[in-house]
Parts: sequence; structure tokens; C-alpha cells
Amino acid sequence: MDNCSLGYTSYQSSGFPLDVFQDSPTPCYYYDMELLDRTLMTLKDAVAPYPHFKVHYAVKANTDHEILRLISSYGLGADVVSGGELEMAIGASFAPSTIVFAGVGKADWEIKMALDADIGCLNVESLQEMEVINDIAGKMHRRARIAIRVNPNIDAHTHHFITTGMEDNKFGINLADFDKAVDLALSYSNIDLIGLHFHIGSQITIIYPYELLCERVNVLLENCRRKGIEFEWINLGGGLGIDYDTPDLNPISDFKTLMDTVSNTLDVRQGQQVHFEFGRSLVGQCGSLVTRVLYVKEGHNRKFVILDAGMSELVRPALYQAFHEIQNLSAFARGDRGAMRYDVVGPICETSDSFGEGVVLPQTMRGDIMVIRSAGAYGESMSSHYNCRRLQPTLYGHKPLI
Ligand code: LLP
Repeated sequence: MDNCSLGYTSYQSSGFPLDVFQDSPTPCYYYDMELLDRTLMTLKDAVAPYPHFKVHYAVKANTDHEILRLISSYGLGADVVSGGELEMAIGASFAPSTIVFAGVGKADWEIKMALDADIGCLNVESLQEMEVINDIAGKMHRRARIAIRVNPNIDAHTHHFITTGMEDNKFGINLADFDKAVDLALSYSNIDLIGLHFHIGSQITIIYPYELLCERVNVLLENCRRKGIEFEWINLGGGLGIDYDTPDLNPISDFKTLMDTVSNTLDVRQGQQVHFEFGRSLVGQCGSLVTRVLYVKEGHNRKFVILDAGMSELVRPALYQAFHEIQNLSAFARGDRGAMRYDVVGPICETSDSFGEGVVLPQTMRGDIMVIRSAGAYGESMSSHYNCRRLQPTLYGHKPLI
């Protein structure tokens, strides 16, 4: 097996409407709906050869209504992790039968809501949760379709805060308890065990962890087959990464390599479906945080660019030391191609409220419009009201769906 890198489909992303940004209050999110559309089209083409492959959108990445509506119009399912996300997905016309509900801590009311809505599948993360789902379903005179979330103990080679499939992570049922979980599920009278669920982490940029996952899943499937158990759904989760370093060169992730690899590696039989739950790779590149420069301050040894956006609008740099490309659109429009180094920081009273140290930018001035790129996934959805701050109205790259 080659430890090969996932490539990217190259499209030139559309130019930013600087005039619109100049007339708009900031900080705000801007979504390039055309790029999202192209991304969905590329995914559709990659999946087309495999009619038994089904893709769900991981709603946690971005819950903007226009984004949800465009994604659901492509016929994708939804992957939700809370009652609130379930409501958002249903409100954006995702068919309930295509919704999967994951999460280590589903509250009783959320389980009831999922059963009431008759969603496609509850991904179960512990033996105790399975018992609770069986009880609730019994009281509601319903049957619960479940998949067992297995922790496959695979290193996704990504940031440790977004690694989920290692034995010591809180997610899923460990391999050692797998047989017990299957036997238990089959013994419950209000549960239909329809599948297995996996998710090894996020921002995965090499194909190897997925190959390893498929091989591990094959072993589990084979063991179950020997006992006469076949699953309807095999859900491999999400995690496909995006190119944060050069988003304009690589705006669309390589869905095709992943689909072809899974098709070549996973041993599925007639009638079995393979499911994916993509978040970041669908919406990451279409979003930018638009911000104004409030001040340029000369420090003792450093120059600070102080923005009107901070960790309350985009927490990823502060939380994971994540890199997002920063561009000064106003300087570019002035024709300023110089190169200076700045520490780009937000206005929040926290030292970690920084978007990057020593960032190379053209000469930057008060009032300049800047964009922080690749912020469509886990940007707005993780934003907060810390310091009583408020995001300004969202802007869209073309007329949004109503
Ligand atoms: N399925 C499950 C069970 C998940 O836990 C996740 C993400 C996904 C699918 C979607 O993963 P994606 O395709 O987006 O990688 N806030 C972090 C990322 C957390 C991911 C949580 N789980 C970040 O900003 O990098």
C-alpha cells in the first residue's frame, strides 16, 4: 500500500466582491455558493459509478440555512449530532430516512425526537446507550434502526484534538466489546441492527488511513458473516481533508480517489450500502471570514494588525493552532504587492486570540478589508458570543436559494 497523498481537483476560485464587502458591516461570513455547487457536482461525479455509495452531510460543519438547502437539493442525507441539528436538517428538507444521528451523549429527548421523526439510523456509541434506546423505543411502540459505532483503533495522522478512532478516544465501542455489542443488539426486541459505523478523524489528507480502515472493517464483516450476520449499512464516516495552505489552487477535495479506493478495498456484498459523512470537504473552502483592519500597531519588535474579527468568530487558530490563509483584498486592489510581516490578531481579551504570527502581507492600513480563507467548515458553527460579540449578516457569492 502506498502512503500516497490525496490530490485535489484544480479550479480557480471566483474573485471576491470587494465593493460589496466595503459596503457591508463586518465581521461577517461570506459563502461562495458557486464553489459549493461545483464541489457538490464533483462529489456527485465521483460517487456516480457506485450506486450503493450514499453520502450524508455532517451538519455540524456549517448550519447556514442556504448551505443546508443547496446540499439537500443534491439529494444528500444528513449526519446530525443533536436534537437542534436534527431540527435544522428536517427544516432544510433533508429526507428523514437519510438522516443519521451520532454522538456519545444523546439525551432521552433527542432519542425520542429521532424515533418520532423516523430517521434512517441512530449510531450507537455505548452498550448502555443501546439499552436506553431499546427502552425508549419500546415505550413509544417503535422499532429503532441502529448502527454500532466501532472504534477501530486507527491513527488518522491528523491533529490529536480531531482524532476520533483511537482506542483511548471517547468515541464508539472498542473492538474488544464488538461481539458483545452485536449479540446484545440482536437480543433487544425493539432494535433493528442495520449496520456498523466508523469515523477515524478529521482533516485527513492521505489515503492510507482509509485503506487501513477498510481492511479492518473487512475483518469484522467476515467474522459476522461466519455467524450468519450481514449488515445493510457500512458507514465509514467523514474526515476527508481540504487544502488550507493553497485554497485557490485546490478548492475541491479529491472525492474520486477516496471513492475508488473504498470501492477497491472494502469487501461489500450485493445489497449492502456504503455510507460517508462529509463535513469539511463539502463546505470548508466555500467560506471566508470577512473582516476590517481596526488598527496597525507598532510593537517593540513586531507589527500588529488588529482586526474586527477574533476567536469569537473563528476559533480554530486559537483552539487547534490551525492555519488559515489571510489575504488583504484592499491592498491587492491598490496594487500594493509589497511584503511585510505582521502578527494578525483579534480584539478579544485573550492572548490566544491570534490568526497568525509573522504573516506575510502587503502594507496594511486601517480600514483595509481582509479575508480569512477556508473558514466554511467549523467556522460560523463554532462561533460564540464571547465578549458579547455579534456576527454581522452573512453574504453569499450568488443569489441564495429561498
Ligand atoms: N462523522 C462523525 C461521526 C464526526 O464526528 C465528524 C466530525 C464527521 C462525520 C465530519 O467530519 P469531517 O468530514 O468534517 O472531517 N472542529 C474541528 C473538527 C471536528 C470534527 C468533529 N467530527 C475542526 O475545526 O477542525
